Amino acid sequence: MSSANHVYPVIWQSESPDEALNGRVLLIDQTRLPKEYAMVDIHRYEDMAWAIETMIVRGAPAIGVAAAYGMYLGAREIKTRDRTEFLTQLEQVAQRLRATRPTAVNLFWAIDRMLKTAHQTLGPVDYLKQILLETAQNINAEDLKTCRQIGNHGLQVLPSSPQKLRILTHCNAGALATAGYGTALGVVRSAWLGDRLERVYADETRPRLQGAKLTAWECVQEGIPVTVITDNMAAHCMQRGMIDVVVVGADRIAANGDTANKIGTYSVALIARAHNIPFFVAAPLSTIDFAIADGSQIPIEERHSSEIYQVGETMLCPSGVEFYNPAFDVTPANLITAIITEYGAVAPADLKAKLASRQMV
Ligand code: MRU
Repeated sequence: MSSANHVYPVIWQSESPDEALNGRVLLIDQTRLPKEYAMVDIHRYEDMAWAIETMIVRGAPAIGVAAAYGMYLGAREIKTRDRTEFLTQLEQVAQRLRATRPTAVNLFWAIDRMLKTAHQTLGPVDYLKQILLETAQNINAEDLKTCRQIGNHGLQVLPSSPQKLRILTHCNAGALATAGYGTALGVVRSAWLGDRLERVYADETRPRLQGAKLTAWECVQEGIPVTVITDNMAAHCMQRGMIDVVVVGADRIAANGDTANKIGTYSVALIARAHNIPFFVAAPLSTIDFAIADGSQIPIEERHSSEIYQVGETMLCPSGVEFYNPAFDVTPANLITAIITEYGAVAPADLKAKLASRQMV
């Protein structure tokens, strides 16, 4: 792990030729970063569901990859050799994994792709299991490739300026949130490698601090200059002319381009518009939900109030108050300059016409 360019949050590992029996998934425990770099071994699908719920693995594409492996682990645990019974039990595995987190559509996309593969594959149950492992590995490898393409396309649409760019990002849409390399941070990474980046400004991203902990950690690993600011400082930085462009990731994009991403993204889009600063969303096609017409239909996860009232062992608030803790918000399409996908940058209004037919599941 010499560079965040080589950080892979979800790794399939097998020490025996009999992968079906002995393989396991290694997850970077993102709840411990940046203090500690530790791996968690996952052998069973229930443990994968738990890892997604507790955010050991998080970030929309990484959740999709983890869920795909979770489907395989679940398939491996099914004892029957009867195909119909196997598919019934696999649906139960899918139900459990679907119930982990509601907003990031990559989760559902990956589970559906695994189920579709199982239904379409002919042959004995053992063969189905082998194909499911291969499919999960493909989803993983494809996402890595996709992120690099997003990075390259992003580089083409960043504002042209003789000066190097100062990019603001929110949450963590980096290697840790994907199969590797990242979406928004993939664009940042490509800008850095292309000598077009002066500095990243990372919103700390209350309440879980993915910006302060994870984005900052990735940048430090790679020597990318990074300044962490608290979320309420972004407008001030824009007003002072410190930000040239905003690039964020996405958890689910509706057909009209409305984009759900980490809570606070909408405020960043509004202040970027007020300061005439381009606001890009970087996301793979698997994050676009063409079944949803607009952002009002995107389910927004609400997480436990302890994420707000507690930091470590310290209680921040008096008892007796109430809390509201939505994990995501929806940025309306009209605030988004373009959505950078593996097929290039697309205006939100053109999303359906240009990309719907390319989606795989
Ligand atoms: O709650 P999280 O940490 O899973 O939320 C992550 C985000 O909101 C990311 O910005 C998004 O998933 C894009 S990751 C490439």
